[in-house]
Amino acid sequence: MKGMREEVVVLIGGSGGIGKASALRFAARGARVVLVARGRDALEAAAEDIRRQGGEAEAIPADVSDPVAVHRLAEEVAARYGRVDVLVYGAAVFYLAPVEALDLARARQAMDINYWGAVHAVQAFLPLLRQGRRKCIAFISSLSVPCTPAFFAAYAAPKHALHGLALSLRQELHPEGIVVSLIAPGPVDTALIEGHLHQDMYRLPLGVPVLTADEAAEGVVQAVLRRKQEWVVPRRFGAAARLSRAFPSLLDAYYRWTVRGWNQTVRRVTEQHRAARGAARQEGAQEDVTTSAPAG
Ligand SMILES: NC(=O)c1ccc[n+]([C@@H]2O[C@H](COP(=O)([O-])OP(=O)(O)OC[C@H]3O[C@@H](n4cnc5c(N)ncnc54)[C@H](OP(=O)(O)O)[C@@H]3O)[C@@H](O)[C@H]2O)c1
Repeated sequence: MKGMREEVVVLIGGSGGIGKASALRFAARGARVVLVARGRDALEAAAEDIRRQGGEAEAIPADVSDPVAVHRLAEEVAARYGRVDVLVYGAAVFYLAPVEALDLARARQAMDINYWGAVHAVQAFLPLLRQGRRKCIAFISSLSVPCTPAFFAAYAAPKHALHGLALSLRQELHPEGIVVSLIAPGPVDTALIEGHLHQDMYRLPLGVPVLTADEAAEGVVQAVLRRKQEWVVPRRFGAAARLSRAFPSLLDAYYRWTVRGWNQTVRRVTEQHRAARGAARQEGAQEDVTTSAPAG
């Protein structure tokens, strides 16, 4: 299973889950993979796994929310390889909450990583992609863009932004033969959603499967190899995604029909978060009064 011999594939968010599973697949096809993430240990372990299976892998730690760090990363890749054939952007954090009770620092962090990190990566790596042969940028998005449920705003809004970025970039890079792919997997059993899935804020409507990281990774690889602009995983959900995009109220209705007590759950969770936030604000205000009270 070769076909990418000597190609340089940079996977941002490559230390675990879908990114690592994709890296293993690209490496098995002969690509030289560069794994990027913040956590050094997981990154080194992922690269070691790939090497143990006969692949070529390098680990470079970087935080993509920092544009300077991303440019430094691109310089390191340039010095080592001189070009990039495929850039896969999959760095993300996950945060669920009712909009009314969003922790703004966490929501902004999600925007910084899930969206702005992609902008930083594109700006830093485009000169190297121009030198590459395959000329492909693959953004790992999410089925939660065409099908956005309650409590997903902080996670899905940056993914919606990523779609906007991809649509514009696609036209800008078309004359140069650089393809921009958006891969939209449904729920995948990875560390990202551990502890969230099947809880009140993350219920799955009827018929939505939980994929393995390998299944999602195969989607990433196929989208890259076939130069697809949009690739929903599982494939059979492509039509549902298009339908939901055209008629968003269908998704709302589907949740209400198939998730038992969905309206009541949404209401209860929202009220709980509102109360908790109110209590936290009051506590903060009390503390302010105490700490700013004049001595004596
Ligand atoms: N799991 C799902 O249900 C699901 C469904 C649809 C789409 N997706 C998308 O698939 C992609 C991969 O997710 P996953 O499920 O495989 O999650 P994961 O295992 O948690 O992987 C996320 C990766 O992003 C890295 N990362 C996070 N913040 C970073 C930062 N600031 N700079 C650099 N790297 C950073 C993480 O490593 P460090 O934390 O060490 O930096 C990790 O390597 C994400 O874009 C996610 O939105 C996931």
